[in-house]
Amino acid sequence: MGVPARRGIDAREVTAPLCRLEDLAEGKSRGFDPLGEGRDTMFVIRRGGRLYAWRNHCPHYDRARMAWKKDEFLDPTGSRIMCFAHGALFEIDSGECTLGPCLGQHLTAVPVEIRDGQVWVTGVYEPGLRR
Ligand code: FES
Repeated sequence: MGVPARRGIDAREVTAPLCRLEDLAEGKSRGFDPLGEGRDTMFVIRRGGRLYAWRNHCPHYDRARMAWKKDEFLDPTGSRIMCFAHGALFEIDSGECTLGPCLGQHLTAVPVEIRDGQVWVTGVYEPGLRR
């Protein structure tokens, strides 16, 4: 028995890479839409030579959009993830909210790996929530 489908889009393995590793700038975030849902349901941050990937769902209110504009998921200093709906701040490496209305709660990690210089989601990916 698989993961239940939502909105007519089935949870499934992502069959194309998100991007090339070199397309992710150090210290920056970038949103992705792995299942072609028409909006970014996850984002990746490259920092210190590592990748951190999170679902675009804030634990405070999961129907809010976290980025203030395309690919902008970080606070002005670039040191924490910021949900622009109500200003919650999250640690980039742990996804823990350290300031804001969902203090102590966590973002949901997305497993990713690098294969042949490309960034892939590993395992089954669920569609995002209806907006
Ligand atoms: S929805 Fe993210 S802080 Fe409120």
